[in-house]
Amino acid sequence: MLFVDSTDPTEIKDIYSWGIASGVTTNPLIFAREAGEADLEQRIREVLAVSYGHVSVELVAEDFEGMLDEAERYHSWAPERICIKVPFGETGLRVTHELTTRKIATNVTCMMNFNQAYLAALAGGTYLSIFSGRVRDTGYDVRPTIAQTRAQLEREGLDGKIIIGSIRHLMDVNEALGAGAHIVTVTPGILRKMLHHPKTDEAIAEFNAAWHARGK
Ligand code: E4P
Repeated sequence: MLFVDSTDPTEIKDIYSWGIASGVTTNPLIFAREAGEADLEQRIREVLAVSYGHVSVELVAEDFEGMLDEAERYHSWAPERICIKVPFGETGLRVTHELTTRKIATNVTCMMNFNQAYLAALAGGTYLSIFSGRVRDTGYDVRPTIAQTRAQLEREGLDGKIIIGSIRHLMDVNEALGAGAHIVTVTPGILRKMLHHPKTDEAIAEFNAAWHARGK
């Protein structure tokens, strides 16, 4: 499956109209880049209005109680649609476990390896976000981590779904899905690049030219 990695309601609406998106992921950096000083709740409500499926909203509090309060606030905006993005860590695991017992969907994020993803799955994470581009930045191939995580989820019958984020190139999408990711979350810019191939343009132009020239 593909999710849209954006907070931009115009882009999200447009891409949902293609029929290819199943959810939306956001993070504080994307929000700051795309929406600056905009009100988070208003922006997320606009995103909810033009999409379906889970919309992940990331916690910025760093202590257990603060994270739970923030999570409850986001969750109240649309209990069936909002997924709480929990930064990975010891407190993040406690928060994930607590939100799971409250039946609130979670997306454990900022993970770079199998150990982290396995812990997040055991804590009950609905989604397990592993960051392709950032892993590659450190000189490692993310594919073995994806494959190992997927195999372990299957072996233990764990419910977590792997989301691969931090997608920088079209090839990252292909490789993530090939390695066993359930979902890849992709920016609108890269999704648009997935549309194009020069031979497709050439074929369509050739067919249409032949059609219009027929019988002449
Ligand atoms: C998605 O859930 C992630 O937050 C996002 O893809 C991270 O991308 P970046 O590594 O380019 O910041």
